[in-house]
Amino acid sequence: MNNELNTKTPSASVQMPTIPVKGFSKLSKIEKIDFLVRNYFSNSDAARIQFKKFWHADEAIQRTIDEFSENTLTNFSFPLGVVPNVLINNKLYCVPMAIEESSVVAASAKAANFWLTRGGFKAEILGLKKVGQVHFIWNGEPLKLQNLFNKYKNELIVSVSSLTSNMEKRGGGMLDLRLVDRTHDEPGYFQLLGEFNTCDAMGANFINSVLETLGRTWKNIVMGEVSFTDSEKELQVVMAILSNYTPECRVRSTVECSIEELNDPSFEMSAQEFAEKFARAIRISKIDVTRATTHNKGIFNGIDAVVIATGNDFRAVEACGHAYAARDGQYRGLSDVEIKDGRFRFSLEVPLAIGSVGGLTSLHPMAKLSLDMLGRPGAEDLMKVVASLGLAQNFGAVRSLVTSGIQKGHMKMHLMNILNHLEANEAERERAKVYFENEVISFKSVREYIAGLRNYV
Ligand code: MEV
Repeated sequence: MNNELNTKTPSASVQMPTIPVKGFSKLSKIEKIDFLVRNYFSNSDAARIQFKKFWHADEAIQRTIDEFSENTLTNFSFPLGVVPNVLINNKLYCVPMAIEESSVVAASAKAANFWLTRGGFKAEILGLKKVGQVHFIWNGEPLKLQNLFNKYKNELIVSVSSLTSNMEKRGGGMLDLRLVDRTHDEPGYFQLLGEFNTCDAMGANFINSVLETLGRTWKNIVMGEVSFTDSEKELQVVMAILSNYTPECRVRSTVECSIEELNDPSFEMSAQEFAEKFARAIRISKIDVTRATTHNKGIFNGIDAVVIATGNDFRAVEACGHAYAARDGQYRGLSDVEIKDGRFRFSLEVPLAIGSVGGLTSLHPMAKLSLDMLGRPGAEDLMKVVASLGLAQNFGAVRSLVTSGIQKGHMKMHLMNILNHLEANEAERERAKVYFENEVISFKSVREYIAGLRNYV
């Protein structure tokens, strides 16, 4: 490295570099860490040790993890927990969740146990269709383009057959291809809209490869069309990409019981009052965007944790879920409740474009283990599990909110984080757990309690 930044000694100040580094990605992992600790840390030795401490002991595993990303330095640990006793369609799952928020696994486990004795979760697939577009600009009479598309639709489909044949053997592939006229929204703007079934794969690479090929073939067809004028032969492919909005790749999970079965002495209200208060909370999530956002955040606490644990793309799932929540123009809570004929029915319908084969699902050792734990589900069963955990999490959150409030459970879990922060020893932790059983937990109250213990000793 010939950059003046790199000549600094390890004890140099933490003044951030002002000259951009060149060729960083070409450095070895050790060289990257050296660069960072020299330039961004006052205690470079401590920082170097910390980076290395989180390397995996097994070099082959570490290499695999390094290659998931770029400029990798080390690993960033999240706990992988499990929720046992999740009964879905009469099958008992132990569901893995990778999440750092302390109360999420506990709340899911509590909700799973609650519904275990009330028939469990009933989940069904509402569709498996994924989509993607070639977005392009063409200036001319739309009907002329439509006629050309109709004439060559088959040729377009054949042009991607080498890419789709394997997926077809598995029962999927490209389901349809259409020309969409969007010239009313943007001059000259059209789409080739592809519809896909990607079976057990999330299918992003498959869809994107097909779309890019379609884009090239379509441009060639238009350029070579003898009946077109010179200007009609011009077509600009703006981009070819799958859409993460997949409302037709959707799953519903439902729980249901009689009102009496909701009875819980700790609620300090009757089962009927609880059910109505719960239903009101759901209605509020449908009409108020500020509440809807938090409500859905709770749902995605459950969804994301399973999606991450199984090596799926949680950003895609979140983006789609939130777009779906706003499908009628207002962002609303995703879950639904019905109280009818003495029964309480709570459900969640959510689009989930996830897979159980390919990508990280088969590369990440923990994702593999998580999928094994779930009995190697296909994509459909995985969608059912994920949606059910979203529903469980939402049930747990709303139940707490309309009864004891959320802080009681949250702070109980957070106590451990505070004790860790205060570097409490085992004896202090045990005494604090007992003491705060019936005391208000805050950082201040815990700090004062631990200081009191330490002074006393
Ligand atoms: C916290 O992570 C999630 C909740 O805020 C969700 C909700 O309010 O429904 C508890």
